[in-house]
Amino acid sequence: MSEHHVGHPAHSAEEWDERYSGEQVWSGDPNEALVAEAAGLRPGRALDVGCGEGADSVWLAGQGWQVTALDISAKAVARTEAMAATAGVRVEGVAAGLLEASLPGAPYDLVSVMYPALLRSPTGEAERRLLDLVAPGGTLLVVHHADIDRDHALEQGCDPDDYVSPDQVRGAAVERGGWDVEVDERRGRAVALGAGAHHKTDLVVRLHRR
Ligand SMILES: C[S@@+](CC[C@H](N)C(=O)[O-])C[C@H]1O[C@@H](n2cnc3c(N)ncnc32)[C@H](O)[C@@H]1O
Repeated sequence: MSEHHVGHPAHSAEEWDERYSGEQVWSGDPNEALVAEAAGLRPGRALDVGCGEGADSVWLAGQGWQVTALDISAKAVARTEAMAATAGVRVEGVAAGLLEASLPGAPYDLVSVMYPALLRSPTGEAERRLLDLVAPGGTLLVVHHADIDRDHALEQGCDPDDYVSPDQVRGAAVERGGWDVEVDERRGRAVALGAGAHHKTDLVVRLHRR
């Protein structure tokens, strides 16, 4: 599994639904950075923000996490629920945007945000919501691509600067206080299949709420 291909910009729920109406988009495997960072955590309640086709949610559920899978695309959530059913694990799907979603299960012990397509705003609402969704003692994991070819993306009608980055979430946490930055690094990744296979380097930020 993986991320948004900059050559196919998609912003609205309708556009993402269209993207998830055809063939499988992502690799079907859990993201390497999630597996590496979550493996040492004690399972509790997890929120997968922008769950896509569900490989991360299903992997987390298989590790004993109680998972809520959130995506603005109802078709993404349907794919996630179908994948969970096939795997024989329980995942609760929520079809809504991050800012609009009603999440009675909040706060969460783990909020995982893998290759988010969350639009940036001048007031930093998305970053604030992510921080608010994490329980005291919990973890916020935000991963995105390093080295996106901005000129190429702009030619395709997509500005990478329109989206929330791991660095911005880290900055919001540091500014708020009460958070420890446990990981902030670039890291190679190997994804063989799916629309994100050409991205080779991750930006990984892991934050711990005191
Ligand atoms: C690049 S994909 C990444 C999917 C998945 N995390 C992965 O790693 O394969 C971004 C996902 O975020 C979803 N998304 C976009 N805007 C969102 C929003 N405001 N709230 C929740 N999900 C959103 C899209 O529908 C899409 O599934």
